[in-house]
Amino acid sequence: MMFDTAFLDVPPLQAVTGTVRLPGSKSISNRVLLLAALCEMAGDEPTQIHDLLDSDDTRVMIAALAQLKENSNATKKLFLGNAGTAMRPLTAALALRGGQVGGYELSGVPRMHERPIGDLVDALRLLGCDIQYLGNEGFPPLKIGEPKLKLDAPIQVRGDVSSQFLTALLLALPLVAMQDIHVDVVGELISKPYIDITIKLLARFGVTVQQQGWSRFTIPAGSKYTSPKEIYVEADASSASYFVALGGLAAMADKPLQILGVGADSIQGDIKFIEAAAQMGVQVKSEANSLTVWRAEWSKATGFLKAIDLDCNHIPDAAMTLAVMALYADGTTTLRNIASWRVKETDRIAAMAIELRKLGATIEEGADFIRITPPASHTGWRFASIHTYDDHRMAMCASLAAFNPAGVPVRIEDPKCVAKTFPDYFEALFSVAQTDAKNIPVICIDGPTASGKGTLASLVAKQLGYHYLDSGALYRLVGFAAKQAGASLDDEAAVATIASQILVDFDGDRVSLDGIDVSDDIRSEASGMLASKVSAYPSVREALFNLQLDFRRLPGLVADGRDMGTVIFPEAPLKVFLTASAATRADRRYKQLISKGISANIEGLRADLEARDARDQSRSAAPLVAAKDALQLDNSNLTIEGSVTQVLEWWNKLSGGDAPSQL
Ligand code: DC
Repeated sequence: MMFDTAFLDVPPLQAVTGTVRLPGSKSISNRVLLLAALCEMAGDEPTQIHDLLDSDDTRVMIAALAQLKENSNATKKLFLGNAGTAMRPLTAALALRGGQVGGYELSGVPRMHERPIGDLVDALRLLGCDIQYLGNEGFPPLKIGEPKLKLDAPIQVRGDVSSQFLTALLLALPLVAMQDIHVDVVGELISKPYIDITIKLLARFGVTVQQQGWSRFTIPAGSKYTSPKEIYVEADASSASYFVALGGLAAMADKPLQILGVGADSIQGDIKFIEAAAQMGVQVKSEANSLTVWRAEWSKATGFLKAIDLDCNHIPDAAMTLAVMALYADGTTTLRNIASWRVKETDRIAAMAIELRKLGATIEEGADFIRITPPASHTGWRFASIHTYDDHRMAMCASLAAFNPAGVPVRIEDPKCVAKTFPDYFEALFSVAQTDAKNIPVICIDGPTASGKGTLASLVAKQLGYHYLDSGALYRLVGFAAKQAGASLDDEAAVATIASQILVDFDGDRVSLDGIDVSDDIRSEASGMLASKVSAYPSVREALFNLQLDFRRLPGLVADGRDMGTVIFPEAPLKVFLTASAATRADRRYKQLISKGISANIEGLRADLEARDARDQSRSAAPLVAAKDALQLDNSNLTIEGSVTQVLEWWNKLSGGDAPSQL
């Protein structure tokens, strides 16, 4: 599952514990994909890649490489999304290699066309590459033609804008290493650890780069890629930063958070983030391939993390996580030497400043630094709708604000942007995060049979990324199971025993009982009648009580039934009582049955509905009545979309509006 919603409200969180397994590293995945493809193009055998990251950026790379394999004489047009790790090295490799009648065109999303590539193009042109700008000078999209290589003079490349330019050259130059090729870095090289990853991976593919400090790199004459045949991608150290921070904020020494996939042996520079985090108050136990984290005793004692002043050039991506940790610090934190933030997926310094201010922090920003003064601890935090700028790291960072001491939720816009590097980030977060049940929002939708509750509730759940409880299905399951077991439906005790033992599993709109899919059986009219009968037994309702409470899980729940708002979740912030006239409901049910090829009689259906209404309303145990604080919605004359819009409007007023802390 992924949160494919307009926004995701992360409820106030209190603790974390358990284990997360991180996805593969984006930087390593895309480099390995390219190297494996270059080996194959040179006639070597295929490379088996394990633990590859499955994300937007790797898909873009895989699609581009597949396109390159196709035989065609036309211009090859590669769309590279917003993946800098595909755009830069492919530009270098294709420009040096040529070999395509009609050349290549490389483009991306609009933001990609604002991310500079001029320094790389300048270096490649000096080598004799034919590269034209199709849009603005210095930026993609690019047109690449046939090179006339001249490799004698050392190549100069700027190192102070993006280390990806140097990485791109180092990955591509072995394709043409007829002689020693020297690359000289002009200006102070930033993000050195990423160059380290590149050099280590080149070595795995048979090319040894000679290095003079960080200023000259030499690809020896005769270098040639050879496939390692098999390679493992380690987990993403930048992704680890969110969980290291989570552990530091909210895990305890006796119930720490375990992070699997990266550890002390990592070749990724961002692993150094743990040193900065430790300074702030995270206790980290580092093993070869895992990290165990919790809040340091001293930080727990003061109730604050420690403010830091740090040069973050060596951990540009993970440093964003420090910016959000700074909201919990005992003073002002300054993160320096982060000019590269300005040319990433978005201008991250500007974005971070705007969004952290919304949460209540005081921010100062400069060309290459950001200074963060936290909100006053309880009173200064604000509910905020965090804009994420199509930047995965903005979204993941923002979720860390949910531990605020004021207990306000955090709204994250466009949560699916995390798919760039960590498609299941929020699932992973919710699998280790804990909070009081009362912090987990519930929307109740109660009403009579065939009023359209199920459709409405499941659509609202989908729009909000919440779980969905179809409580009627539970009573239907009990009736069905009792019948199957041969129990008499008049025997309350026997039916209640069955109710207390059922093993139910919901998967989308499929329901299974003891592992067998019974969705169609329980949705029949006959099962509806059985359900109406067994649901009148107090002991059956009692037996299903806790089971229903268990559905209240992060990040929230939409529950439909008869007594969601009156009995099961009486303190739910939004209760809707959904009705429609008996004639409308009979008509809808009739059409539903006919469309399934089941013959039906509209008068009979209406009589059945009215009989069931009467029984549901008149029973003594949890009768069908609207909760006192329920909002009435008669959907007789509304479309489904109309009803969904109304409920979401009510919800938004409650959650995004004046009183977020009531959630
Ligand atoms: O919503 P439905 O038609 O699937 O419900 C089937 C029966 O279960 C219905 O007759 C009433 C009963 N029910 C209940 O008593 N309490 C609930 N929360 C949900 C359903």
